[in-house]
Amino acid sequence: MNAPDGPDGVVHDWIPSPLPDTVFDPLPHRLLHEEPVARVRLPYGEGHAWLVTRYEDVKLVASDPRLSRARTVGRPVTSMTPHTLAPAGGVGRADPPDHTRLRRLIAPTFGRRRMTALREHTERMASTLALRTLETGPPADLAESFVGPMSATVIAELLGVPAADLDRVQAWRAGILSNDTTAAAGEAVKKEIAGYFADLARHRAAHPGDDLVSELAAARGTGGISTPELVSMAVMLTLNGLDAVRNIVSTMAYVLLVHPAQTAKLRAAPDRLPRAVDELLRYIPQRDGVGMPRIVTADIEVGGVTLREGEAVYVFYPAANRDPSVYTDPDRLDLDRDEAPHLAFGHGAHYCAGARLARMEAEVMLGTLLARFPALALAVPPGQVAWRTGTVNRGPEALPVTW
Ligand code: HEM
Repeated sequence: MNAPDGPDGVVHDWIPSPLPDTVFDPLPHRLLHEEPVARVRLPYGEGHAWLVTRYEDVKLVASDPRLSRARTVGRPVTSMTPHTLAPAGGVGRADPPDHTRLRRLIAPTFGRRRMTALREHTERMASTLALRTLETGPPADLAESFVGPMSATVIAELLGVPAADLDRVQAWRAGILSNDTTAAAGEAVKKEIAGYFADLARHRAAHPGDDLVSELAAARGTGGISTPELVSMAVMLTLNGLDAVRNIVSTMAYVLLVHPAQTAKLRAAPDRLPRAVDELLRYIPQRDGVGMPRIVTADIEVGGVTLREGEAVYVFYPAANRDPSVYTDPDRLDLDRDEAPHLAFGHGAHYCAGARLARMEAEVMLGTLLARFPALALAVPPGQVAWRTGTVNRGPEALPVTW
């Protein structure tokens, strides 16, 4: 329902519901075409915010220093969830110079050199897990038996989270990323996970290993990062590494399986895989609803609309990825597409810190599946795949396959 909002125009009520498959949320899709800078009101928080959906406008908002993340702290901006997903003190809600300092601390761990070194190890792990799956099936649930364990192990090793603790961390993940947890329950889970990482950092400061939590604990010793910053960094990296990768790579496998002709071409030319992964990232709407807002610190014109100082703004990257002025036939999957870079990892200073890791994991997992399972197919009709509900990141609950 749309409510007139005085002389300023219409506010669109946006109540994102869990969508199956790769179905695109109809409201932002319509706004992209009809009202690319629009006012929206989400289920929680107060007032309304701007929603920006076109490719060039999204890039402008995401990279202009007049937009602040730090100014969202303590403000009940209209939002997707009753509790804020990102804690204050985290990179996602910091501006320079704090933001720059925090990103520098983690850059080497997620940089090109480290990822190249990690790829071989990840490939071996994927081969071993694929063989085990081959021995125990068909059928198999690819999400839980292959993609999930792979992404969990990779991030746990990088960060230095003991494998024995992963189940506990997974349970916290479900609580934090849920969009129907109450504010109090969300805060309680966040407190628990914060306590866990504070303890882990204390332990690693005394017994350092070759992992990121040890590095951050050392940086804390020299004043490079505070305890709350360290904890929220560890939480954010763990949750993204566990959840975003598990959901999106499972969805990528699903999309390949429901596009058999394009997948057959890809199987015959595996060097095309990196390009195919980018097209899958562009095409898949990876989340329900929208990420974190920004606050306007000085008036700025976006797509012919003046956003005023103090107003809240959201960009919607999945819509920008479907902008018809940038992509030919944008709602169609085309694994050979060679157009503008997608914005699935965001843009500007807050560009996804784990983009290289996510890309590498997707390439390794999909490459292994294509090579080891020449007859891979869904074990149920596409309409019977169950999709996650009540959580911000979209993905299949299970991905039953046969071969
Ligand atoms: C395919 C999987 C992933 C997708 C699609 C994705 C997407 C995104 C997006 C859209 C943003 C927000 C950009 C913004 O705020 O404007 C982001 C931020 C971030 N992502 Fe990812 N991400 C993925 C995987 C990962 C992984 C594996 C990690 C690390 C383990 C990670 C760590 C982060 C961090 C730390 C930020 C905050 C960066 C900042 O605010 O400076 N992400 N990601």
